[in-house]
Amino acid sequence: MNERDSEALACLLEQAGYTEVADEAEADVMIFNTCSVRDQAERKAIGKIGFMKKLKSHRPDMVVGVVGCMAQNHGAELLTELPVVDFVAGTDQLHRVPEIVDGIRRERGRVVADELDREIRPELDAHRYGGVCAQVAVMRGCDQFCSYCIVPHTRGREKSRPIPAIVDEVRRLVDNGTREILLLGQNITAYGVAEARRAGVYKPAEFSALAELLTELNGIDGLARIRFTSPHVHFMNDTFIKAIAELPKVCKCFHVPLQSGSDRMLKLMRRSYTSAEYLECIRKIKAAIPEVNFTTDIIVGFSTETQEDFEMTRQVMREVVYDMAYIFRYSPREGTKSAAEYPDDVPEEVKHERNQILLSDLEAGAAERNARFRGRLQEVLVEGVSKRNPERWTGRTDLNKVVNFMPSPDVHVGDLVNVRITRTTANSLFGELCQQNG
Ligand code: 5AD
Ligand code: SF4
Repeated sequence: MNERDSEALACLLEQAGYTEVADEAEADVMIFNTCSVRDQAERKAIGKIGFMKKLKSHRPDMVVGVVGCMAQNHGAELLTELPVVDFVAGTDQLHRVPEIVDGIRRERGRVVADELDREIRPELDAHRYGGVCAQVAVMRGCDQFCSYCIVPHTRGREKSRPIPAIVDEVRRLVDNGTREILLLGQNITAYGVAEARRAGVYKPAEFSALAELLTELNGIDGLARIRFTSPHVHFMNDTFIKAIAELPKVCKCFHVPLQSGSDRMLKLMRRSYTSAEYLECIRKIKAAIPEVNFTTDIIVGFSTETQEDFEMTRQVMREVVYDMAYIFRYSPREGTKSAAEYPDDVPEEVKHERNQILLSDLEAGAAERNARFRGRLQEVLVEGVSKRNPERWTGRTDLNKVVNFMPSPDVHVGDLVNVRITRTTANSLFGELCQQNG
């Protein structure tokens, strides 16, 4: 979401007459888009922002701003702690950044803009066109309040954009060459839920505005693929699963955050599902769709997590078989329920050790998981020259596997091509081009 916000903000600044420079030493305006989800992210940002002191001492007219979750989380405090900062603009104030920067360049002074908004500003649909893949934010905020998570505090209540606005945005992208879109929402399966609740039409067992949105997008000519992230098990009903199974352009990839396989941990985390409910949801997906790529998020070392709890996580991970997982060590965030009420009592070494164990579990199966593609024909969306080997081209399959192949003059960036897989490693697939699909 931050990547997407940074892109939209860059566009807004370009519309206001600014241009991007390659070297930060030449910039008149420097804006840090920050994340608060773990302490490490905040510390990294503070370190980097502090570094600007030297640059600014040579160029006193430079404007330095902090936007995003840290700006929302700490607001005016950041101005006190970081004298180099001229303005902070929170998660719902990005659209005001060009005006704030102009004001500071005219009259100096320092600005704090951290009000949360009930609406998503339409200006934020701006894109830097030209890429094969683009991100589209369909909703913002989160109402889940998982006990460890700062996001509901920094990004505010859930709000979804209307389907026609999203369809318009995707059409514009496709008109400008985009072939694949990644739909974004902190809890994307809650797309439209807050609005439906307010209208009194929310029926949890069958409501899925996301299924409706995906159906609309699936009908856009020229669009080849649709991805989405991140769903939440609690909202993944049959309507949603059926839509994914039936819509040909929707990739069969599910990033389903598990967080923990222990019911005691899940309860403390306020995740609103048990490990059995999670596994039941995965079972339904597997039954509805022949081949699926599952990925997940895991927190190790959450408050009071025992070796037994941890082993339960490993057990669920073995049952699901994930292609990839993001593993995080628990980091208490001030303002959250867990930081206030539960001890951070798992020693750092144990968190680290559990992290390593899960990473090696995943690595152990990676080569084997990719080997199943050997000899098979895969449809690949061509992304262009490989960064590792300029002689090769790369693209990705529906299941998000990177495929390397030798180019041919009639294959272009953005094409869907058939590639016969000849060799696989733990990280990627290699193959030969077959006839083109168009
Ligand atoms: N500590 C560690 N990991 C966290 N995440 C969210 N909050 C925390 C925290 N306080 C992880 C969750 C979430 C992902 C985006 O970040 O796994 O799914
Ligand atoms: Fe945070 Fe939970 Fe919302 Fe995800 S669903 S953003 S972990 S509160």
